[in-house]
Amino acid sequence: MPDKKSYYITTPIYYPSNKLHIGNAYTTVLADAMARFKRLTGFEVFFLTGTDEHGQKIERKAAASGKEPQTFVDEIVAWIKDLWKRLDISYDDFIRTTEQRHYRIVQQIFTRFYEQGDIYKGTYEGWYCVPCEAYWQERQLQDEKNCPDCGRPVELITEEAYFFRMSRYADRLLKHIESHPQFILPASRKNEMVNNFLKPGLEDLCVSRTSLGWGIPVPFEPEHIIYVWLDALSNYITALGYGGEDGGKMTRFWPADLQLIGKDILRFHTIYWPIFLMALDLPLPETVFGHGWLMLDEGKMSKSKGNVVDPMVLSARYGSDAVRYFLLREISMGQDGIYSLEALVKRINTDLANDLGNLVSRTLTMVERYFDGILPAPAGPPAENDLELQQLALQTPREMERCMDELKTNEALAELWKLVRRSNKYIDQNSPWDLAKDPAGGERLGTVLYHLVESIRFIGVLVGPFMPHLPERIWRQIGLHGEAGAGICDWAGLQRWGQLKPGTAVRREEDLFPRLNLGRELHRDPGAEKAAGEGPAKAKKVVEPAGAGKKEEQAGLITIDQFARVDLRAVTVIAAAPVDGADKLLRLTVDLGAAGERQVVAGIAPQYRPEELPGRQVLYVANLKPVKLRGLLSQGMLLAAEDEQGKLALATLDQPLAPGSRVR
Ligand code: ME8
Repeated sequence: MPDKKSYYITTPIYYPSNKLHIGNAYTTVLADAMARFKRLTGFEVFFLTGTDEHGQKIERKAAASGKEPQTFVDEIVAWIKDLWKRLDISYDDFIRTTEQRHYRIVQQIFTRFYEQGDIYKGTYEGWYCVPCEAYWQERQLQDEKNCPDCGRPVELITEEAYFFRMSRYADRLLKHIESHPQFILPASRKNEMVNNFLKPGLEDLCVSRTSLGWGIPVPFEPEHIIYVWLDALSNYITALGYGGEDGGKMTRFWPADLQLIGKDILRFHTIYWPIFLMALDLPLPETVFGHGWLMLDEGKMSKSKGNVVDPMVLSARYGSDAVRYFLLREISMGQDGIYSLEALVKRINTDLANDLGNLVSRTLTMVERYFDGILPAPAGPPAENDLELQQLALQTPREMERCMDELKTNEALAELWKLVRRSNKYIDQNSPWDLAKDPAGGERLGTVLYHLVESIRFIGVLVGPFMPHLPERIWRQIGLHGEAGAGICDWAGLQRWGQLKPGTAVRREEDLFPRLNLGRELHRDPGAEKAAGEGPAKAKKVVEPAGAGKKEEQAGLITIDQFARVDLRAVTVIAAAPVDGADKLLRLTVDLGAAGERQVVAGIAPQYRPEELPGRQVLYVANLKPVKLRGLLSQGMLLAAEDEQGKLALATLDQPLAPGSRVR
């Protein structure tokens, strides 16, 4: 066994009742960034995810689609695995609760609980919420008839059932929670669990159902099916081989270091799960972290409301690195966060294209221009701003490690971006272009460019856990691809400054993150396509990746027939108004002549005030599929040109024509 420290991290196992949405992807991306960061810093990591495949919800969905439950889940699980591949999720194991290795051990666990008197038979009468797979007491119901978690109607159930004596372990659990402040995080959630569930007196938990078909049968009474939470929670140890002959990976990895979940399932993970573990004489996980919700502007994302954002579509269009960066940077760990396409595109344009992309492209362009692409050696005593940059680079890994240990990926990235921005400032402070003009500036110019490429090396290593494709793209450009990077493109390589070899050939490639046109992205909103109910396979066809396409399209050529499909018109602006909460958007009403009026939401507010638009004739695409932007219907699109600086000019007519006139 290596002398590395072990680190076991888990995500919830997701219900394959539907395709996953960006909220599920958030948990998994967070866990992946942690897993990768721990691997980078020298831990032997075991990262587990998987699917929770039993229960009434799945049984009903399968029946509704005319499929056997197993066939139904197999299809969705294949989609989920594909999603994780696209999002570069580096799990070490993917557990499915329908697998033998899980199924068998859950039966064994149930029998053990029964034999040691933790489980007894009784009669269950209670209220059951099918979508949440949770039982509730009458006093807990919302409006006396709805589930307190999701607000949907509950069903009254009376049946013979097995129960787990939770009360036996309640005091021990309370003591553990009080004496291990890192067990439930964030701390605010700990109080919620203690005050709402433990202190009022813990009720016994129903752990079997007879009215359920799709699940694991109680081995000694198979008409009873093991209630989903006992089945599901056990995955965290069955995946390690618990109950097997040699205990599998249990000795190395249990107890888990971090069990990451959404706040919705905290009760199951911080009350029932630790009690099951106590009953098995196993130690409790170090930390259970309940993160916040990823919300949409209009409120909570939910499969039943049909307003979920499809992470497959987003990563197909913007790339996994950008989507991951957004999730990890935008949302403060533990709090609720908002997903919007506008925020995603802004992050891509500012942090990725402007800050990081420009740093790399400016630096490498200068090495190519002034040193024929060969990395110069630093010369002479370092200037004060050289030392500042060196110090910041050396301290950034430590700062990031501190943030990651506190599970604050957003702060870890903010620390890294201090180095990115400081490096850009270093370019401006040293004006390499002036040094290049100065016949005596050669040595200093070499020092400055060496510092910049060395700083990019630090950034390349540190960005990897968050954006896994990026390091390779950087190494190729700064000559550290493959063997050349051995020993310096890792954590140990960040302990010392100046490890890049002068004389290395560098080569500027395509921009790391091309700038996106916000208005255009909002118009084609991949989210809108998902809202129209496109499946992942279809959506892949409709949403081509930013910057890709067929050969002819890349060459910019279309046929006259393709052009003719665009219904271009001259329209007259009738009214224009700002859009609440969106600085860049204006809401316009345009006159399309015989076709009547249309509403268009356009990203032209940086250039045009609403009052200067009415009366103007502009060019307009009339046959674009309508979309909703900020909750407003946008029918069609105005044409505008945009220069490199982002300055916009609307396309107009040089003399007035009847509104609705065709443009050919
Ligand atoms: O609960 N924002 O599975 P599930 C952030 N099978 N995270 C979200 C989210 C949102 N809007 N919506 C969902 C189950 N999640 C059980 C778990 S574990 C032994 C069994 C994330 O498919 C969040 O992590 O409903 C939440 O806990 C998980 O998805 C629920 O996934």
